Amino acid sequence: MDASISIRRLTKQFDATSVLKGINLDIPPGRFLILLGPSGCGKTTLLRTISGITDPTSGEIWLRDKRIDGVAPEKRNFGLVFQTYALFPHMSVAKNVAFGLEMRRVGKAEIDRRVAAALDLVGLGHLASRLPKQLSGGQQQRVALARAIVIEPGVLLFDEPLSNLDAKLRDSLREDLRALQQKLGVTSIYVTHDQSEAMALGDEIVVMKDGAIVERGTPIELYRRPIYRFTAEFLGMTNVIQAQIEGDQCRLPWGAVRRIENPGESQVEGVAIRPEDLLIEPAEGEPDGVVEQSMFMGAATHYWIKAAGGTLRAITSGGSNTILPVGQRVKLMPPPALHLLKSLGAQS
Ligand SMILES: Nc1ncnc2c1ncn2[C@@H]1O[C@H](COP(=O)(O)OP(=O)(O)OP(=O)(O)O)[C@@H](O)[C@H]1O
Ligand SMILES: [Mg+2]
Repeated sequence: MDASISIRRLTKQFDATSVLKGINLDIPPGRFLILLGPSGCGKTTLLRTISGITDPTSGEIWLRDKRIDGVAPEKRNFGLVFQTYALFPHMSVAKNVAFGLEMRRVGKAEIDRRVAAALDLVGLGHLASRLPKQLSGGQQQRVALARAIVIEPGVLLFDEPLSNLDAKLRDSLREDLRALQQKLGVTSIYVTHDQSEAMALGDEIVVMKDGAIVERGTPIELYRRPIYRFTAEFLGMTNVIQAQIEGDQCRLPWGAVRRIENPGESQVEGVAIRPEDLLIEPAEGEPDGVVEQSMFMGAATHYWIKAAGGTLRAITSGGSNTILPVGQRVKLMPPPALHLLKSLGAQS
C-alpha cells in the first residue's frame, strides 16, 4: 500500500456516545487533505486520534507500513498547528521553535541552523528574539507553524489554524500555508468547517457528518458533481429542485426540459443548479419567474426569483451596469445538463 497514512475502522466513544463511527481513510504521500464538516461532527477528535493525543476506542492507524495507534504522540513525529497558538510566553520566538529539537536532543549548531531556516520559511527571521506577547496573532500563528515544520515532520496536522485571525490576515496566511505545504511536499491533514478555506487549500476534501465520512473528492468534483445533497449544500449555495425525472431527462417545475448528467441514481432528492449557473434575462413573452429580491454585491448581483416550485437563487457576475428590479418578469436559463443529488439516508 502506498498511502502515507491509512486509517482502518477507527472508532471513538466518549462514555456512551459514538463520536467516530468506523472511519476508513487512505491519504497518499504529499497530499493536502481537508476534513470538512459541521460543528461537532468529529473532525477534531479524528485529528487528535491521528496525532496520538486521543486514544481510539478501536481501529488501526498506519504510517506507511508501521502501525502507530499505540505509539506515543511525541514518537510519531507529527507537526501540529492548532487554533490557539500555545506558545511558551516566557521564551523568545527562536526558543519556542527550538523547543521540539531540544527535546529530541539535536546538537546546538544544528538547532540554530534549522530554527533560522524554519523562521525564514514563515517570514519571521527578523523577529527571532521577540517574545510571543510582542507579536500579532498572525505572527504568533506563523511561529506555531515554524515550530511544527522545524522537526521535519512526517505529517502535518492542522486544526482550524486560521480561525482566530481576522479575515484579511486569514487570506494571506492561507496563501502562505498552501505555498509552504507545496514546497515541503509533506502530507497534511487540515480540519476546518469553512467551505471556502477547504476549497482554496485542499488537494482533496473529505466531508464528514455525525462521526462518519459522507464523501471525498477534489474541490471541483465535490462542488460540481457531489453525490449527496448534504455535500452540495455544505460546499456553497445551491438550488435543489424537485424535477420530474424520466430516464436521462428531467422536467423542471416551470416546464423547461433538461438532460441529466448522472441518470439512474436512486433516492434522489432533486436536481442541483448552482446560483451562478442559473442565467436570467427579462422575459419577452411568458415569464418563468419574477424577481422577488436583489442584492448588489460589487463583483456579483444576487437574485431571489419566485418561480413554480419555489424561490430560486441566481447570481450574475461582472459586466452589468443595471440590476433587474423587483417585480421584473424573467426567463430562467439553467445549463443544458443537470446533476442529481441523493439524500444522505441513501448513504451506503
Ligand atoms: N473529551 C470529550 N468528552 C466527551 N465528549 C467529547 C469530548 N471531546 C469531544 N466530544 C464530543 O464529540 C463530538 C465531536 O467533537 P469534535 O470536537 O471532534 O467536533 P468538531 O467536528 O471538531 O467540531 P468543531 O467544528 O465545533 O470544532 C462532540 O459532540 C463533542 O461534544
Ligand atoms: Mg474541532
